[in-house]
Amino acid sequence: MAFTGVVALDGPSGTGKSTVARRLAERLGARYLDTGAMYRAATVAVLRAGVDLADADAIADAVAAADILISTDPTRASVRLDGAPVDAEIRSAGTTAAVSAVSAVPAVRAQLVQQQRDLIGAGGIVVEGRDIGSVVWPQARPKIFLTASPEARAQRRAGELHADVAAIAVDIARRDRLDSTRVTSPLAQADDAIKVDTTELGIEQVVDRLVELAGAVVVDG
Ligand code: DC
Repeated sequence: MAFTGVVALDGPSGTGKSTVARRLAERLGARYLDTGAMYRAATVAVLRAGVDLADADAIADAVAAADILISTDPTRASVRLDGAPVDAEIRSAGTTAAVSAVSAVPAVRAQLVQQQRDLIGAGGIVVEGRDIGSVVWPQARPKIFLTASPEARAQRRAGELHADVAAIAVDIARRDRLDSTRVTSPLAQADDAIKVDTTELGIEQVVDRLVELAGAVVVDG
């Protein structure tokens, strides 16, 4: 039986979240929503508009004018901005450096959270982000919070980006601080989330554990 519920997968970067979320969606026959990609596409819109990153109103206006369209197919994750794919641009160093400032603006979050809820509504979806279990869809089951040691997270990111581990560790610490201390929807584990530490686990082991948890929800529910 196909999974009809909503899985919330939150946690910081470098925990294996994106790969795990995509694989989990495929295993469950569910859709997949990468909310980080939406904040990144919004950031591309802001950077293209040439807006001052200290000007929250101007950031909000630039994002309000942007048309962000995201695919929920786990085998073909893709995001479009104003009609054109921006899959490479959303992962650029420039976008990554600016995304915390853009995602901290309350009006930006309100807009994207609404769009996320519209996409989640039909169910049968694995949603990854920072605030899915706490704000976007608190009724999600299971609600997972992925963690890993700072060293493991920096190693994984450095491997993906072919970059220096020490520099990545500094950037991860900076984004953690910004994402955890922002006033609106900070990165935080929901009280009823199940914490899964991926430091010592391979991707498939994590996915197996989450399939089990989702299966338990299907049976119980
Ligand atoms: O998961 P990611 O690294 O692609 O996310 C990019 C940024 O977007 C990250 O710095 C935090 C922010 N983000 C957020 O604030 N809320 C979410 N639900 C998802 C991502």
